[in-house]
Amino acid sequence: MHRHCEPACRRQDEAKQSKGFFTEIASSQKTLLAMTCDRMFTLGIETSCDETSCAILENGVKIRSNIISSSLFKHRPFGGVVPEIASRHSLEQIDFVLEQALEQAGVRLKDIDHIAVTAGPGLMGSLLVGVSYAKSLSWRLGIPLIPVNHLEAHLSACFMTPDNPTVKQPREFAGMLVSGGHTMITHHRAGKVRILGETVDDAVGEAYDKVAKILGLGFPGGPILDKLAQQGNPKAVLFTRPKQKKRFGFSYSGIKTAVLYHAQKERARPGRTDADEQKYIRDIAASFQRSAIGWLVEKALDAMSYLNVRDIAVGGGVSANSYLRKRMAEETSKAGLRLWMAPLPLTGDNAAMIARRGFELRNRRPAALNLAANPGLRLTAGK
Ligand code: KG4
Ligand code: ZN
Repeated sequence: MHRHCEPACRRQDEAKQSKGFFTEIASSQKTLLAMTCDRMFTLGIETSCDETSCAILENGVKIRSNIISSSLFKHRPFGGVVPEIASRHSLEQIDFVLEQALEQAGVRLKDIDHIAVTAGPGLMGSLLVGVSYAKSLSWRLGIPLIPVNHLEAHLSACFMTPDNPTVKQPREFAGMLVSGGHTMITHHRAGKVRILGETVDDAVGEAYDKVAKILGLGFPGGPILDKLAQQGNPKAVLFTRPKQKKRFGFSYSGIKTAVLYHAQKERARPGRTDADEQKYIRDIAASFQRSAIGWLVEKALDAMSYLNVRDIAVGGGVSANSYLRKRMAEETSKAGLRLWMAPLPLTGDNAAMIARRGFELRNRRPAALNLAANPGLRLTAGK
C-alpha cells in the first residue's frame, strides 16, 4: 500500500480481496484511484566523490527536487579532490541535504516508495556515508533499497528530458561515458551493456584537470579550459594523435605531457609579455580541446557505424563541454543519427540521475542490509 495515498490504496486492497479488482468500484472512483495511486516517489542519494546530493523523483521522470552540496571549494587549495575532506563534508551535510530535498519536493519521508543509492565506483569514504545512510533509512521506513552504479546513472541522465518527460528510451544504443575517472564507449541492448573500449591511462576529464594545473589555471580544469578555448586559436598547436592498438581505446596521458613540454619551452622564451601569456593560454586551451574532444567525437561515430545503431547517449561531467555538445550535435545530425545528452544541470554528479537509474531497476530484487560500497564497481548493467 502506498503511504502517500493510503485511503485510496486501502479501498483498492479491499476491492482486491472481495470480488476481484475494480469489479465493485464505480467508474468515477476508478479514475480517482488511478489519479491518487499512480505516483511513485524515488529518493536518490549520491555521495561518490565531492558532491553530497539527495533528489526526489516522481514516477521516474519528474524531478521534484535535486539538492547538491558541493565540497569543491574546500579542495581548490589542494588542486584536486582530497578524499578525507570529501567524506567528512558528506557526513556533515547529508541530513541537511535530505531535509531540503524533501521540503522542496513537498514530500514526507513516509511518502517515499524506494531508495536508490550510489554503491560505486567512487571514493570509499564518501560512498560509505551514502550507503550507510540509505541502509538505515530503508530499514527504518521498511522500503526497498536499490544499489546504483554511478556510471550507469550518468548514461540514464541522458534520457531525462524535462521538456518531454515521457520520451521513450531506445532499446539499443551506443554509450559514451566521459568523466573525471572514466572514458569509455559502450553498447546497450535490452538492458544489457558491453564495454567496447576505454582509456588505457588518464580519463579525458582528468586530462582537462591536469592540463589546467600545468597552465596554473585552477581546479576543476574542465569548465575553465572550455571557456578559455572559446577565445583561442584551435590550430595554434597541433598535437599528435596517440597510437592506439584498440579501435575503441583512448589515451590521454600523452597530450597532457605534450602540453607540459610545450608550455615550459614557450615560457622560457626571453622577452615574453603578460599579453603574450594571456594569448598563449587561450590558444593552447583551444588546441588541446580541439584534439581531446575531436578524438571522442571520431570514436563515437565510428562505434555507431560499427554497431549499426542510430542512437548515442553521451554522459558524465565532460558532457557539459560546449565544444563536445556542438560537435556531437553537428555530426549526428549530418549523419541522420540521434544524440541523447543530459540537460546541463544533470551532467555533473547529482542524485536525480541515481534516482532515475534506481527507478529503472525497481523490479529487481532489492539489496539486503549487508550491501557494501564498492569503489571499483565496474559497468555491469543487466547482468
Ligand atoms: O562526472 P563528474 O562530475 O565526476 C566524476 O564522476 O568524475 O566529472 C567531473 C569531470 C572533471 O574532470 C571536470 O573537469 C570535467 O568533468 N568537466 C568538464 C567540463 N565540466 C566538467 N570537462 C570539460 N569541459 C567542461 N565544460
Ligand atoms: Zn560522475
